[in-house]
Amino acid sequence: MAGKIVLCRCEDVTLSDLEHSVSRGYRDIEEVKRYTGFGTGPCQGKECLAVVALQLARITQQHPSAIPPFTSRPPLAPTPLKLLAKDPGAHRFADETDEGED
Ligand code: FES
Repeated sequence: MAGKIVLCRCEDVTLSDLEHSVSRGYRDIEEVKRYTGFGTGPCQGKECLAVVALQLARITQQHPSAIPPFTSRPPLAPTPLKLLAKDPGAHRFADETDEGED
């Protein structure tokens, strides 16, 4: 097959990277994740886990059902920046909104 086959678009992990990982002895999906970085991008593996698992099954000659998904770790969903940014209006208490009203 010619050309670069991208399996994980977020982290730019290719089929060649996966094959290299297996050739180095990393045959478990958690090991492959740590070695290549696939599944650690903004989508946290939602886009690439299945295709990497299928390719790993093919390369290691296992049935795909023998490859469990990797362990998801928090945050399980992207955190909106507005939750982390200082927003004076977000922390206003009822007493503060009544200032100057008497
Ligand atoms: S495509 Fe792999 S982490 Fe998003």
